[in-house]
Amino acid sequence: MALIPEQILDEIQARVDIAELIGRSVPLRRAGRHFKALCPFHQERTPSFHVNTEKQIFHCFGCGVGGNIFSFLMQQERLTFPEAARQLAEQAGVTIPAQAAAASRNGKTEQLYGILDKSCRYYERMLAHPSLGRAARDYLKRRGVTDRTRAAFRLGYAPAGWDRLMQAAKRSNISPDLLQQAGLTAQGSRGAIDRFRQRLLFPIQDVRGRVVGFGGRSLAGQEPKYLNSPESAVYTKGRQLFGLAQARDAVVKIKRAIVVEGYFDCALLWQEGLTHVVSPLGTAFTPEQARLLGRYTEEAVLAFDADAAGETATLRGIDILTEAGLRVQVAQLPTGVDPDEFVRAYGRQAFAQLVEQAAGVLEFLIACAKRRYDVHKPEGRVQAAQFILPTIAKVPNAMLRAEYVKRLAESLRLDESAVAAELGKVQPRTAPPSGASPERNRGTAATITVRAHAARASGRSAERLFTALLLDQPGRWEAAKSAVSLDHLTDARLRRILAVLCELQAAQRDAVMPAQVISRLQEDELIRLVSELVQVAQAEPEQDEAFRKCVQRLQQNARKRELDQLPELIRLAHELGNTDEETRLLTNHHQLSKALSMKEAG
Ligand code: UTP
Ligand code: MN
Repeated sequence: MALIPEQILDEIQARVDIAELIGRSVPLRRAGRHFKALCPFHQERTPSFHVNTEKQIFHCFGCGVGGNIFSFLMQQERLTFPEAARQLAEQAGVTIPAQAAAASRNGKTEQLYGILDKSCRYYERMLAHPSLGRAARDYLKRRGVTDRTRAAFRLGYAPAGWDRLMQAAKRSNISPDLLQQAGLTAQGSRGAIDRFRQRLLFPIQDVRGRVVGFGGRSLAGQEPKYLNSPESAVYTKGRQLFGLAQARDAVVKIKRAIVVEGYFDCALLWQEGLTHVVSPLGTAFTPEQARLLGRYTEEAVLAFDADAAGETATLRGIDILTEAGLRVQVAQLPTGVDPDEFVRAYGRQAFAQLVEQAAGVLEFLIACAKRRYDVHKPEGRVQAAQFILPTIAKVPNAMLRAEYVKRLAESLRLDESAVAAELGKVQPRTAPPSGASPERNRGTAATITVRAHAARASGRSAERLFTALLLDQPGRWEAAKSAVSLDHLTDARLRRILAVLCELQAAQRDAVMPAQVISRLQEDELIRLVSELVQVAQAEPEQDEAFRKCVQRLQQNARKRELDQLPELIRLAHELGNTDEETRLLTNHHQLSKALSMKEAG
């Protein structure tokens, strides 16, 4: 968002009415002061899509999408942020200053993009180099990669040698420091060296085709087989999908994406005309990647290896994609054959057929469960159902969930209402708590995590409501800031949101609009959270009273956390023989427990 000055964004925002904008493509119905509609971003029969004209935001309670005018246009018309901003600016008659673009080109991230692109071109030249690139070109030929594919993916080659790229960069006056920040060099025992040496390079591109990093396949048997760029200011691992830039248009058109594990799988399927293919870059599929894909399609076909690791990856992919609201299918490859090998051995038609014959999620899960449990016995059937329920619980659409329960019960010959009741136990989930790694929790483990979340929930919900009420009326901060600070919040997402709010509040005289906060947040997850919280605040009947209680609760929770830590500190002071400190801490402990017990009694 560094591209366009924030004041300009605010100006555009002030001039465009969100209801008018959304109303052009979505039939809105007035509901009190605001509007409701059937959500344009997911299938539903009763409207859960809200447009809040006062706060200039929208939010869907069904699928969780939300945001401001920019977010809406980006998702509706699949635009990038600057594209959406430009379009709205034009319509609102706001001029985006020309130097804004120029200035940002000197910005740090723009510099990194520039260097990554230059390096990519360098590696492409090396691959084309008559002598230096020969071995790599031969390798590509052996693996059946054509020149067209090579060009489309901008494949490159990093020749052997310690500092070829560094030398080339030096000749172009690129600072070693920036090269390092772009992840292109590594620290050797005697200073910096090129990170990629004697490797075939797959540039990792963002959806707009900007190079953000590389994956390098070793050609001489060095380990690791693939060396990947480290994260940088422009590259976060779990946020990119390899091949998306090349696949994007096809994915939108075909309304489906094939998801494979590897670089070569992607490139080869693309080459065979199955261009709607992406890869999560070897890492386990992340919620961000799922949401990224969800911007372009509602359906994903997983085509991972048929081995145990592939099955684990598939199970995880299913859960994460399902939760992001995508329909998932699973293509069954022969064991030990990856899509690259399959398509080369059997051809495009055969692979397309695997995709056509892909199993539905439930079908796949039932087959998995049947391999794991003995479904000839009642206990085995129950275990099988327990194994599958956590995934069903992630299906956002209630009708579809019910349909799955029905089919699951039928297939395992279990009582449908009992299965539904068990589903209820793994149920209470809205957005997954971020930060926590989304590990698989199957069966009883899932039940336990859900309970742990519930225990934390009261503290968390005070933080949420606190943030919501501040977003609704930022002026409340004045009254609260002597009692609580951002450190009182344990949820990092809420801290980020409030930090932006406070910063804005300090810089402008008018009340800060939630829509302005949204313009300054980059991650979808945070943007959705803001729009959700605004709705939460609006639903609160006694706002002032609720805010007062939240402040108390936050103070109390902070005291509890402090109290929890004191015994350890006291023990340390005691061990170190620091009597003064020990006495001070003991007094502190005494006072805190007293304050807390008074609060709890009162
Ligand atoms: P695979 O080991 O299945 O390799 O890893 P592959 O893609 O089939 O590669 P080839 O065909 O042997 O050349 C799948 C993906 O996991 C990531 C890469 O993205 C790879 O494409 N990976 C694998 C790594 O990042 N590092 C590794 O060392 C290995
Ligand atoms: Mn392979």
